[in-house]
Amino acid sequence: MDAPRGPSVVLGVGGGIAAYKACELLRRLTESGHRVRVVPTAAALRFVGEATWAALSGAPVATEVWDAVHEVPHVRIGQRADLVVVAPATADLLAKAATGQADDLLTSTLLTARCPVVFAPAMHTEMWEHPATRENVATLRRRGALVIEPAVGRLTGVDTGRGRLPDPDALFEVCRRVLSRGTAARDLDLAGRHVVVSAGGTREPLDPVRFLGNRSSGRQGYALARTAVARGARVTLVAANTDLPEPAGAEVVRVGTAEELRDAMLKASAAADAVVMAAAVADFRPAARAAHKIKKREGQDPEPVALVRNPDVLVELAAARPAGQVVVGFAAETENVLDNGRAKLARKGCDLLVVNQVGEDRGFGTEGNEAVILAADGGRIDVPFGPKEALGDRVWDAVRAHW
Ligand code: CTP
Repeated sequence: MDAPRGPSVVLGVGGGIAAYKACELLRRLTESGHRVRVVPTAAALRFVGEATWAALSGAPVATEVWDAVHEVPHVRIGQRADLVVVAPATADLLAKAATGQADDLLTSTLLTARCPVVFAPAMHTEMWEHPATRENVATLRRRGALVIEPAVGRLTGVDTGRGRLPDPDALFEVCRRVLSRGTAARDLDLAGRHVVVSAGGTREPLDPVRFLGNRSSGRQGYALARTAVARGARVTLVAANTDLPEPAGAEVVRVGTAEELRDAMLKASAAADAVVMAAAVADFRPAARAAHKIKKREGQDPEPVALVRNPDVLVELAAARPAGQVVVGFAAETENVLDNGRAKLARKGCDLLVVNQVGEDRGFGTEGNEAVILAADGGRIDVPFGPKEALGDRVWDAVRAHW
């Protein structure tokens, strides 16, 4: 059988309990055709042994620069890689990388690699928040490494807080995004920016068990969040009623109704550099919410449902935006797509409007999207049908052009 010819990935594993999750990341990488060299630290091997890494990667595993010296592995492994991902990256490993130490194979590889480097930190909250770690992370980011924010949740023992390694699937998506950008991925063009994205569809309750909703899956908003993380942005994702896996590195705020979404968006966006309203927000909500389940009555017609208007979140965000903030809306149209889009752009007062045609089988819930990005200054960018991530990248390109 031919050896896989896919991209070459170095998986660096630090000495933290989350090393076991890196096994799953390794599986995802090898199963999708990547050639992976695992470079664990000596401490990592105390958590997961060499045999596991060798069996899952199908490649030799070395920790020190003294193994197979004639192949000069401390130079070659980094030089040949298309991507180096370090998961988990411990506080110690981040410190070593930030200060350019090279006392084992992984730290040496980090110095010789010229490809994109992703660090997925995992540690206790106190260690993550310590000024030493903050400075090391800032240094690595300044040098072009993608250091993704740890997730919030259960840590080792009984502690909970920020410091968890994101799920392997979400880390795999980061690797895929970074690799798909090729050498451009070394330029983290959204680094230092805070972007806020809404996703999903709001639900307006009629009673404790029923609601008015819509068919938005949240996929486009999540794709926007993933692409922004891969380009180095700090991302807040305000998610309305989605059941998609959380993107690695994004802070996720969960909401239900249009009013909850509005409050979360106004709060998150106060000092943001860009705000993207990809959520489908219900224009109306039931005037009253029954305290108990509405019952049918034999021989009687149902009561009509009185509706009231919801706030237009995009209009409010555009009106309240601080100087320099770019506000982006989405428009789902079923007819006269461009004319309706231009009129909507003017009405909403945003900088950019991403217009796409939706219907039973287009837009909502599908894997791909086709759109036109309209700018308030009259510009127009046509984005052909493609993955939602591709549209996400074009949106961020347009946002950058506006900054
Ligand atoms: N939007 C919003 N608040 C609302 C309704 C919509 O913020 N109450 C935002 C959406 O998130 C999207 C944009 O406005 O970014 C356009 O949404 P769309 O449903 O196409 O526009 P509507 O204003 O609802 O216009 P209409 O239904 O009349 O076409």
